[in-house]
Amino acid sequence: MTTMAFTEPVLLKRIPNDPARRKLYWYDDYVATGGYESLKKSLGMKADEIVKTVIDSGLRGRGGAGFSAGQKWSFIPKEKKGPHYLAVNFDESEPGTFKDRYLADYDPHQLLEGIAIASLATQCDVAYIFIRGEYHRQAKVLERAIAEAYQHGIFGQQGMLGGNAKLECHVHRGAGAYICGEETGLLEALEGKRGWPRNKPPFPAIAGAFGKPTVINNVETLCCVPHIIERGPLWFKSMGTPSSPGPKLYGMSGHVNKPGVYEDELGITLDYAINKLSGGMKGGRYKGAICGGISMGVLGPDQLDIRLDFDDVRFRGGCLGLGTAGMIVMNEHTNMVEALRNCVRFYAHESCGQCTPCREGSGWMAKILDRILSGQGKRQDLDMLLELEKTMGIMPGTTICGLADGTAWATRTFISKYWDEFAAACPEERPISISIKRGSHNVTTPMGSNTR
Ligand SMILES: Cc1cc2nc3c(=O)[nH]c(=O)nc-3n(C[C@H](O)[C@H](O)[C@H](O)COP(=O)(O)O)c2cc1C
Ligand code: SF4
Repeated sequence: MTTMAFTEPVLLKRIPNDPARRKLYWYDDYVATGGYESLKKSLGMKADEIVKTVIDSGLRGRGGAGFSAGQKWSFIPKEKKGPHYLAVNFDESEPGTFKDRYLADYDPHQLLEGIAIASLATQCDVAYIFIRGEYHRQAKVLERAIAEAYQHGIFGQQGMLGGNAKLECHVHRGAGAYICGEETGLLEALEGKRGWPRNKPPFPAIAGAFGKPTVINNVETLCCVPHIIERGPLWFKSMGTPSSPGPKLYGMSGHVNKPGVYEDELGITLDYAINKLSGGMKGGRYKGAICGGISMGVLGPDQLDIRLDFDDVRFRGGCLGLGTAGMIVMNEHTNMVEALRNCVRFYAHESCGQCTPCREGSGWMAKILDRILSGQGKRQDLDMLLELEKTMGIMPGTTICGLADGTAWATRTFISKYWDEFAAACPEERPISISIKRGSHNVTTPMGSNTR
């Protein structure tokens, strides 16, 4: 059952669909269009009240995992024993995802207002915006917007808009590693170290940046906050579905006529996202869609009716989840073996190497897929890929972070949903090839099968 009452843009209210009408809203423009009113309202609320309002709204994290934002804030200790931190996750390196960039391109103060309110709720002293290294322009935009916010008394030691809360805010630029988007890898990188994810517990709310209580939130999550404070939890819940309320940015790319970032509510169907939001299929009929960045897996040919929320994509769609709702749409001419090879090659390259199943598994998978694409695939290769994907990930309990799950879910969903195509590339009986000499020197893998 859906509530479905999205009538006007929320997060994109200052960013029109028509590129010719878009402009960057600096401080004066932002204030002239109602900006920072929610912060003023929040300054009159107790921290607990802000947290409760966000819990009641049902806001779930837009960075991929879909965890309740308000609940996450409530884990920060009430009694302060030192500084609290907010780490804003603007790493946005998941292939297919470009929604956060769009927000910073045109409306940076919306994010800064969300940061200020989240900091009031969690007694935060310093907010770091951890931004993807390649986002040069967006880092500059944010630095200028932060300078404006300091000038107007939002950040700084004089107290937020003259109040008691004091917040410093900095941009921290990443160096271009996908793993630094994983929240604990991000914290390590923020501390100046190699971006190696940490074992949990302790969770960041207890021991995060510099060992102190830290909230980590995605850019879009924080941009929702001023609107929730302004218009209330009930309004927020009037959009989306009961378990996935609110507006959502959909990043549409691939074989669609009008790729771009579109806002609608959570729970629209994939069919609607393709045909109504992004102008329909380009170059051929629909074949599949990577649904939320490549780590979520792929929605198959008969799944256009799947609702894009945190549950339907998972339970009926058979994917890991909605993720970031960065959709890569593929038409009938797409080679799905190649598509999976691209995904797996990415993971093999980005694995930080701490966990054997991820480091070795993704490398083996990439090699096997390369071999299949070179025309030397055999049916055992598919068995081996499916066996490998079952052995890797934080969900089966074999790795520190979820990067390995992304590799596993991409592999599982591509092979199972496009089995015939993979099977055709890997015949049961392959005629003896003249290019391959099988000899006793071949390596036998732990899987008991020869992978060259
Ligand atoms: C490998 C990996 C990469 C990730 N990259 C990002 C990212 O670029 N941006 C992001 O917001 N979350 C990313 N996440 C999710 C974060 O770990 C974390 O769940 C999120 O930032 C929490 O914010 P939210 O609750 O507001 O969604 C990634 C997770 C994994 C496992
Ligand atoms: S799962 Fe992969 S990326 Fe994550 S910590 Fe382990 S080796 Fe590194």
